[in-house]
Amino acid sequence: MEEWFQPHNLSYFLIITITIILSCYLYCSYKLNYWKRRGVIQLKNTSRIFGDFKDGILFRTPPGYHMSQLYKEAPADAPYVGFYIFHKPCLLLKDPEIIKQMLIRDFDNFSNRHFAGSVQKDSIGMINLFGIKNPAWRYLRRMITPTLSRGKLKQMLPLMMETGKPMMDHLDHLTDCKKPKVIDAQDVNYKYTADLIANVALGTKTNCFNFPDSEYCKNIMAFFHSFKRMVALVTVFFTPELVEMIGYSILFDSTFVRKMFWNAVESREKSREKRGDYIDSIINLKNGKQDSLYKFDGDNLLFQSGTFFSGFESSSTAAAFTLMELAKEKNIQDRVREDIKRAIDKHGWTLEAFAKMRYLDQCISEGIRLHPSVSTVDRCTFEDYQIPNTDVVIEKGTPVYISLYGLHGDPQYFEEPEKFKPERFDNDRIVPDAYIPFGAGPRKCVGVQVGQLHVKVVLSMILSEYEVYLPKSAEVKLDNRSTFTAAAEGINLQFIKLS
Ligand code: HEM
Repeated sequence: MEEWFQPHNLSYFLIITITIILSCYLYCSYKLNYWKRRGVIQLKNTSRIFGDFKDGILFRTPPGYHMSQLYKEAPADAPYVGFYIFHKPCLLLKDPEIIKQMLIRDFDNFSNRHFAGSVQKDSIGMINLFGIKNPAWRYLRRMITPTLSRGKLKQMLPLMMETGKPMMDHLDHLTDCKKPKVIDAQDVNYKYTADLIANVALGTKTNCFNFPDSEYCKNIMAFFHSFKRMVALVTVFFTPELVEMIGYSILFDSTFVRKMFWNAVESREKSREKRGDYIDSIINLKNGKQDSLYKFDGDNLLFQSGTFFSGFESSSTAAAFTLMELAKEKNIQDRVREDIKRAIDKHGWTLEAFAKMRYLDQCISEGIRLHPSVSTVDRCTFEDYQIPNTDVVIEKGTPVYISLYGLHGDPQYFEEPEKFKPERFDNDRIVPDAYIPFGAGPRKCVGVQVGQLHVKVVLSMILSEYEVYLPKSAEVKLDNRSTFTAAAEGINLQFIKLS
């Protein structure tokens, strides 16, 4: 022991330590200068370990929102900037023209997401339309699109309406005539959405308002809120390489949903009943002609129901945050209520009525501009790609990100971007290309119409019977752990029953 402290041993120790530190420093500098070497502007405050995503990865800022801070850190006129997640080089696109170029015109090279990486194993959260890679994606998209098309809305509307009944009963029970009652609009929306997922995607009726402690409700609320899922989402979105290391079954435990889904399919096949829901569609796909690219059988059927979980979660967020904005602006809220009333008086609670609610449409468009439910869009380069009119080549496999908070909040494209102004979407105005709440190109959201109808149904039901206000002292903070947009402590609004 004492011999170890001999001066010459100590100097060896020092030399080795300094060499290790120096090598690490040089290695990090080399890795973190990747973009500079390729002639691309890169961000400045890069951490040697975490790269540019430290606050997102450590949940100090909501990961999707953090991407918008990177957007703001970049020079205003830069069409794109390089940044790093740990040491992985990623590109953040800023210019709507470049975005269109990559997501639409050069789609063939950007047809895969970086999401879920290359290790796509047994998982309801990854091998669905959102996460699947080509060539299977192209085939799957073609098969799934008709199950969410405009034609299907007619069948889904009655399911959406009947799902709203327990929600309205619950609100009625909570509110007293004239006295305002503070209710968490996010929670109400999550519960409605949980019942909607059961009704549309799992072919089963549930009531999360009356039975919040039921196994289903507890499981699905955990899906929306749990820390485990928050970790899962940040991992699959931004560091999918870690999925295998952490374990996909830890990330997405589908035991409960699996049981429910298969019970529904089995009983539907036995009864041959048609409800116009997703179980009907999936049974049709299962009994149809199969393609070797993607077989509609076994677990693959279950994985597609995953689409509805995140899809309806997005529309739930859109409804809750739009309601919050309306709760701040009485004039706008009154005008929307008029719009809803006019349509319902004329057409009843029908698709025609919802199609006529033009001002409500504008408010929802503005709601998802300010609060994009899916805040980050990603792609991955299929082959080396030269950015048109430049010498810059992005290497095959490089992740490319688009920050919707960044684009939608950029004063270059939206005047007073922090303000809720539905008139931005007046008929005679041109919507900037920077507005992409549903993404862009052949891989844009497949559930746009279903999502919009969901939001409209919920908002029209609530606003037909209630006035809502955001209490003056209330502050709605984003959930730092959430990759999708979510409020940390709910969206507490005062509900007043209309006489
Ligand atoms: C207001 C509600 C919604 C918003 C704001 C929204 C937003 C988005 C966004 C931004 C994307 C990524 C698009 C891209 O990469 O270019 C996406 C993809 C997707 N969304 Fe939605 N979504 C909503 C509702 C829904 C609903 C209701 C469903 C299904 C029932 C759904 C299913 C999907 C699927 C399957 C994808 C992946 C499409 C593909 O990769 O081919 N979404 N959504």
